[in-house]
Amino acid sequence: MCGIFAYINYLVPRDRKFILDCLIKGLQRLEYRGYDSAGIAFDGGNESPDVIKKPETKIVKKKGKVRALEEELACEKDMKLDIEYDIHCGIAHTRWATHGAPCAINSHPQRSDVNNEFVVVHNGIVTNYRDIKKVLESKDYVFESETDTEVIAKLCKYVYDHRENEDMSFRELVEVVIAQLEGAFALCFKSIHYPSQCVGTRRGSPLLIGVKTKGNLSSNFVPILYRDNRGREFQDDVAYNREAKETGSSVEENNKSTDSAFKRSFSTTDFEVSGDIKAAEYFFASDASAIIEHTNRVIYLEDDDVAAVMDGCLSIHRMKKEEGESMSREVQTLKMEIQQIMKGNYQYFMQKEIFEQPESVINTMRGRVNFKDKEVILGGLQDHLSEIHRCRRLLFIACGTSYHSAIATRQLLEELTELPVVVELASDFLDRRTPIFRDDICFFISQSGETADTLNALRYCKKRGALTVGITNTVGSSISRETTCGVHINAGPEIGVASTKAYTSQFISLVMFGLVMNQDRISTRSRRNEIIEALENLPNLIKEVLEMDDDIKKLAEELYEQKSILLMGRGFNYATCLEGALKIKELTYLHSEGILAGELKHGPLALVDKAMPVIMIIMKDSMYTKCQNALHEVTARGCAPILICQKGDTESQSKASRVIELPGTVDCLQGILCVIPLQLLAFHTAVLRGYDVDCPRNLAKSVTVE
Ligand code: F6R
Repeated sequence: MCGIFAYINYLVPRDRKFILDCLIKGLQRLEYRGYDSAGIAFDGGNESPDVIKKPETKIVKKKGKVRALEEELACEKDMKLDIEYDIHCGIAHTRWATHGAPCAINSHPQRSDVNNEFVVVHNGIVTNYRDIKKVLESKDYVFESETDTEVIAKLCKYVYDHRENEDMSFRELVEVVIAQLEGAFALCFKSIHYPSQCVGTRRGSPLLIGVKTKGNLSSNFVPILYRDNRGREFQDDVAYNREAKETGSSVEENNKSTDSAFKRSFSTTDFEVSGDIKAAEYFFASDASAIIEHTNRVIYLEDDDVAAVMDGCLSIHRMKKEEGESMSREVQTLKMEIQQIMKGNYQYFMQKEIFEQPESVINTMRGRVNFKDKEVILGGLQDHLSEIHRCRRLLFIACGTSYHSAIATRQLLEELTELPVVVELASDFLDRRTPIFRDDICFFISQSGETADTLNALRYCKKRGALTVGITNTVGSSISRETTCGVHINAGPEIGVASTKAYTSQFISLVMFGLVMNQDRISTRSRRNEIIEALENLPNLIKEVLEMDDDIKKLAEELYEQKSILLMGRGFNYATCLEGALKIKELTYLHSEGILAGELKHGPLALVDKAMPVIMIIMKDSMYTKCQNALHEVTARGCAPILICQKGDTESQSKASRVIELPGTVDCLQGILCVIPLQLLAFHTAVLRGYDVDCPRNLAKSVTVE
């Protein structure tokens, strides 16, 4: 929900045009997170920075997508674009509205006052904003937006105007401000009182920092600074050194190094660039896709970290030192490539991601499935397998598509593990305050790794002593960091709001988990071998299904003017119906429902008549006869359904109005092949209806609010 991007250049001369382009490009990369309005703040005025007496901040905001903001900027009169800044901080935001309708005034950056003394961009929700607003209004602060965010900017000014210590730093000011806030947030601040400085912080919403310097980094760790009870800063050198040594770097080593671009300065514990060339660029962003074209070196902030960039130095602070917490933040090297987040020859990200599935499923299995020896190893779970084997039950907790991946594999997991398997929607799980026991194993499935409900469910289970396992697609995400262990699904960045390749990779990750649990059981060896052989052939079969794209497009041309589409199936394909219906409704805005065929008689059959479009999934598995019964029930009401079936199933085909014939695979993997025509159908139908498939209305990719 919402995307934050900030760019700080230090002794890297950049003209205003470059800075604005960089901010806009950053927002475009984050647009999938929210796209109802956007805004930026940068140094204003047309004087050269050398002669400027009074710093100014200019804000430009616009309702609509980032393109609208870009056009608005292009229309700005009297704005010199060739002014060069040696040092500058710009902040930017793309919004998914929570408080206040999408419009320029409600977009971010929000400001403290008409002089833009403090400006802030925010991702998340401040739950106590009404109380803060009331207090500030009683002190004559005038609010202009309906947002919760505006209180943060105004609180900055209040704290600044009432500071006792004239030397209060920007970072200290932000610490005072966020101590008043409740809820979830990631924030970036800019101020005319602290020119060219940037402060960023997070609590419950992701924020990371990209670092770009000319040379290499000597240390992969930024130490954390704490405050003692007299307000003085200290760093736990002993613990930091211990931690750094474990990973091959230490304070002494860092300071000794001469050929490095980064080292700890002797006067502070900040990181700065060493040697004669002090130049550095920093990027704050909600996720790595906005940063990767500039640098692959990133630092993921933890909740309550406050990161400040001042005079080219980055420092990370925390108010309190908690027992057992890490003393440093690692500078990680991302493996992501820029091409992975580009559309390439495709018109839409979603389309590209659907067509990437033959490769993404291979990446999910790479290094894990040994097809020759029929063995599966999940490195991330290896150390915990005996505990998992001893558990009382397995719980799979997720939202939306990720939840469907657990429904899709539940039957197989029950079969392979012989354990009770519970699948939960994260929001409902939390609403019920479900009992959790120390010997439960709780899985949290999430593409983004940031979904608020799933993350809250994880914290709930952790508190109750259960072993927590993450199944995520985003390295460094909150869920991947907060779970005890996990499996990275390796599907590659998913930008389209509707999840496609992540679903099939989650599906395969869960199948692999089942196989790992079953590894030592002799009695089921032939079943396991059958599944592993099918996994090996799966990418080819996915390619075969994708070749049917033109046929699916024709089907979409027949259906796109309908009002409703029902999907029916059972057994391994019940989840396929749920997932297909979700894709159709979120992209085409048509009503669509996934119905368990076994439930038809208990209500849904009343919806069926000659005019109702019905898609039925009937595969040659143990549910075949029961699905035939459902087919009869539907055709007896005058409906000739669209059939998704296995090649050569003439019996079922005789009753259908249209047929999508798929290659067959083992029953428990058939859902992967069946979901692809539905992904394509949703995609083509949405395009025919004139909608932007990558940015469906009212939705955002990463749901970091409850
Ligand atoms: C639908 C879709 C959503 C997500 C859900 C959970 O296409 O993408 O239903 O699956 O919001 O998101 P993650 O997997 O990031 O936790």
